[in-house]
Amino acid sequence: MSRVLIPFPDLQPLAVDLAARLNARVAPVGWRRFPDGESLVTLDPQLSGVDVVVVAGLRNVDSVALALRFVAETARELGARSVGLVAPYLPYMRQDTRFHPGEAISAPIFARFLEQSVDWLVTVDPHLHRNPRLDGLFSIPTRHVAAAPAMAAWVQANVPDAILIGPDSESAQWVGDIAARAQVPFQVLAKIREGDRAVRVSLPDPIAARGRTPVVVDDIVSSGHTMIETLKHLATLGLLPATCLVTHAVFSEDAYERLLTAGAQRVVSTDTIAHPACNAIGMAPLLAVACEALLAERTPSLAAP
Ligand code: R5P
Repeated sequence: MSRVLIPFPDLQPLAVDLAARLNARVAPVGWRRFPDGESLVTLDPQLSGVDVVVVAGLRNVDSVALALRFVAETARELGARSVGLVAPYLPYMRQDTRFHPGEAISAPIFARFLEQSVDWLVTVDPHLHRNPRLDGLFSIPTRHVAAAPAMAAWVQANVPDAILIGPDSESAQWVGDIAARAQVPFQVLAKIREGDRAVRVSLPDPIAARGRTPVVVDDIVSSGHTMIETLKHLATLGLLPATCLVTHAVFSEDAYERLLTAGAQRVVSTDTIAHPACNAIGMAPLLAVACEALLAERTPSLAAP
């Protein structure tokens, strides 16, 4: 078999599904930490001539990044023909400008770090705001997989009477797409962020939402404040209990529990970040299509000239 998928420990179910779809052998990373905190990674040494696909959950990126670099470099040293990365959640994308004097603009710096490590990258709905395209950030081939088709299928199957609610203007791109595919109405609210843990969100239109199940949609839930503020408004309008639908379940601290306390009837996410209670939408089928396209670009055509 000429493909080997190397999964980092935290995305095992997604990685196993993806490996089957790519017809790749799974070769887990041995990863242990010494008492001083340094990492030792150990790979299957049989990598000569193969295309390696590393699958890494980057939710806790600061603790994973060096090990990821060690894996990619070691795979090359062991003779891998190519090393690609599937990072279903791409971190640091929100720090895409200098919000305050002297701050690092982390998004392009992290992009350079990744492109120095791997030959190609596949990710799901990166938070592209001031950088509208992934290829404006990366010089290696990239594919941006949209979660909207899978999320729309989930809405159609589970909440056919939904009204989708995007909490801020940035969410319009996802909410509109999911709503069109699921054939349900949507609203986009206005958000003012006053700090890491302080946001204000405008009121939804109660008339349009009456009799429908509100589904609040966002690409990322981190502190949870954006969703929680929206849920608080929905509760005051006497609407049906809301569902929260999120692509990347970052959930800092106890954000998931606080969403439930704030009135979410259900919190549903894709599996780009492992969270057993809310992962309900598998991204492996769409990720496999993107990986196949990038692997094909690296395989010389066998067709006669
Ligand atoms: C920002 O524009 C994103 O789309 C999310 O709305 C944001 O990251 C959510 O953050 P939090 O959960 O901390 O309010």
